[in-house]
Amino acid sequence: MKIDSKLRFSDGHEMPAFGLGVFLSEEGDECANACKWALDKGYRLIDTAAYYRNEATVGNVMRESGIPREALFVTSKLWNDDHGYDSTLRAFDKSMEQLGLEYMDLYLVHYPVPEKRLDTWRAMEKIRESGRCRSIGVSNYMSWHLEELLANANTPPVLNQIEMHPFCFGNKRRESIDLCREKNIVVQCYCPLVRARRLEDPVLQKLAEKYGKTTAQILIRWALEEGFSVIPKSSKQHRIHENAEVFDFAFTPEELAEVSGLNEDFIVCWDPTQTE
Ligand SMILES: NC(=O)c1ccc[n+]([C@@H]2O[C@H](COP(=O)([O-])OP(=O)(O)OC[C@H]3O[C@@H](n4cnc5c(N)ncnc54)[C@H](OP(=O)(O)O)[C@@H]3O)[C@@H](O)[C@H]2O)c1
Repeated sequence: MKIDSKLRFSDGHEMPAFGLGVFLSEEGDECANACKWALDKGYRLIDTAAYYRNEATVGNVMRESGIPREALFVTSKLWNDDHGYDSTLRAFDKSMEQLGLEYMDLYLVHYPVPEKRLDTWRAMEKIRESGRCRSIGVSNYMSWHLEELLANANTPPVLNQIEMHPFCFGNKRRESIDLCREKNIVVQCYCPLVRARRLEDPVLQKLAEKYGKTTAQILIRWALEEGFSVIPKSSKQHRIHENAEVFDFAFTPEELAEVSGLNEDFIVCWDPTQTE
């Protein structure tokens, strides 16, 4: 596994498994620097969203990077207020305008908003057919949201982005993951660092010591070894570097199982298990 190793989607496109998240990276210098440092380090995937208000900065850095467009991968997301067929089409246009790129690699439904989400998906399919977005997927979908979507979609989602780390790896997550695996939907972990709230965990510390790594690196490596895509966020250059230095060691099967057994059903973002 390398920094630009790819995962293949069911629609034939590929995405780097590892990337940079930019939630709370402020539009302007903060986000621009984070993206530049990341690209210099070898990151090729950047995860933004209309809600983050930094799509313009992400697009700008990508355009000016000198890196061929095909080597870069950008994800953005449809915000909750924009669900519905026509408003999804409009929101996508706005995101494209902000990004200033010829195409988006992956557009996600940010959250399974009840009632409107199937109309939204019809618009997502239309967007994909237009060729302005290569792949479409979802975020925060639990197994029942996915089942509903798969029963109604012409084009299935290629990816499900959900909060995932060893402390949030209980039955409901695992049901969603199992369904994704069965249906060839890539699982992408957000909040993979638990927003830095479990970096003192003794099991993580033990492994960090053994491998000469930080506990943040242990968490990122865990996600990759479980076969997930992972998008840690940092706005600091030294951490953007640190988070990418996870490709020179590997857990034993026992260690992987030990980390995967740390579940506390602890979530740091929103809770889609409460959404019908
Ligand atoms: N689809 C969704 O609903 C959804 C929800 C949440 C997040 N996301 C996506 O997932 C990405 C990651 O999630 P997240 O940003 O919420 O949380 P995260 O990646 O788990 O944690 C980010 C936090 O950890 C700190 N950090 C980063 N690297 C560190 C390191 N090596 N050591 C110690 N602290 C470190 C960062 O601070 P500094 O910046 O100061 O380094 C920041 O406060 C987001 O940026 C976003 O792209 C999606």
